[in-house]
Amino acid sequence: MATYNIAVIRGDGIGKDVVEEGIKVLEAAAPAHKITWKWTEFPWSTEYYFKTGRMMPEDALETLVKFDAIYLGAVGHPKVQDHVTLNGLLLPIRRKFDQYVCERPSILFEGVSSPLANKKAGEIDMVVIRENTEGEYANVGGFQYKDTPQEVAVQTSVFTRHGCERVIRYAFKLAQKRKKKMRVCSITKSNAMGYSMVLWDRTFKAVAAEFPDIQTDSYLIDRACMEFIRKPEQFDVVVASNLFGDILTDIGAIITGSIGLAQSANVNPERDYPSMFEPTHGSAPDIAGKGIANPMAQVLTGAMLLRHLGEQKAGDQVENAVRRVLADGEVLTPDLGGRSKTWDVGDNIAANLGSKPVALKSRRKK
Ligand code: NAD
Ligand code: IPM
Ligand code: MN
Repeated sequence: MATYNIAVIRGDGIGKDVVEEGIKVLEAAAPAHKITWKWTEFPWSTEYYFKTGRMMPEDALETLVKFDAIYLGAVGHPKVQDHVTLNGLLLPIRRKFDQYVCERPSILFEGVSSPLANKKAGEIDMVVIRENTEGEYANVGGFQYKDTPQEVAVQTSVFTRHGCERVIRYAFKLAQKRKKKMRVCSITKSNAMGYSMVLWDRTFKAVAAEFPDIQTDSYLIDRACMEFIRKPEQFDVVVASNLFGDILTDIGAIITGSIGLAQSANVNPERDYPSMFEPTHGSAPDIAGKGIANPMAQVLTGAMLLRHLGEQKAGDQVENAVRRVLADGEVLTPDLGGRSKTWDVGDNIAANLGSKPVALKSRRKK
């Protein structure tokens, strides 16, 4: 019997709705695996900011550090500038808890159609490893001559050898573990950015030499965006800087059907701090409160949380239940062409926890 203490931050917009379904499915999966969840809810969000002037209390990180993991929905509100909300909640957690790996799988599941022509289930199956604590998101900079015509803004990227090395090494180890194409593709813009990205390229080469069993590719970000559309099946593990990884994973999400399916985890591999599990998508203010957000990304992120806790079988079972609902194609939210509500999808995933494994390459009988 294992008990896990999880901090829950539903956040803003659809974050609230999809976390509800994520917890529903994780609760339903628990008994068969002798798991007990202890959820502790924190109301930290833009609503909290309206009331207190802060996105989370000053000692929030001291509170969170005691948990086994953090399960988060999304942050962002149309009435407050995003740099205030995100720098007040999400980004400090990623940085202070040294969650330097952002792991984002993109898998084309059975029953889901890609906007790219003629892609079959399983043909797209990659993971983007995004550097998550430094690079373009280092939050170093400032304004000068503010609110004058001479105003200057400086935003500095910070790339350290240590920072590049550890995330690149994680990508190579993951390619070994996946045993799929045994390939790692590095993404930079070192033709134009002759310092930071050149350090990344050099580090990539040095780390690659430690993994002679893994093939490597190296693309510039512009070419990489093109290749994600032209031939995404070539990718296995992709490793990129913070900003490039952010952009690529929205492409990875849409070519595999919907951002509402895009799972994600912010991981501190050394486990010195809790890791944080939140889907790739945001708070989606355009559909918030309508009950039509797809909860599958949040549920699949829950499967990543289970695996992180060492509950591999339970994680696989949750993922399989999502695959089953997708393959059946009957209970889907509008982003996937369906008419179902968020909670109906959650209920259906929970009801399918015991269903037979869905192989990626199986074809649905009509
Ligand atoms: P978004 O991901 O919230 O939405 C993009 C589009 O995808 C919208 O049309 C939305 O309706 C749709 N969408 C997103 N998730 C969906 C789901 N689960 N089911 C169905 N449709 C879904 O991106 P955005 O509009 O650029 O950002 C909105 C807000 O969220 C901003 O404040 C942004 O800063 C924030 N944001 C937060 C996170 C996070 O907390 N991790 C991530 C991305 C964006
Ligand atoms: C994501 C989001 C965040 C990011 C934003 C909200 C700061 O887009 O998790 O992909 O860029 O990391
Ligand atoms: Mn993003």
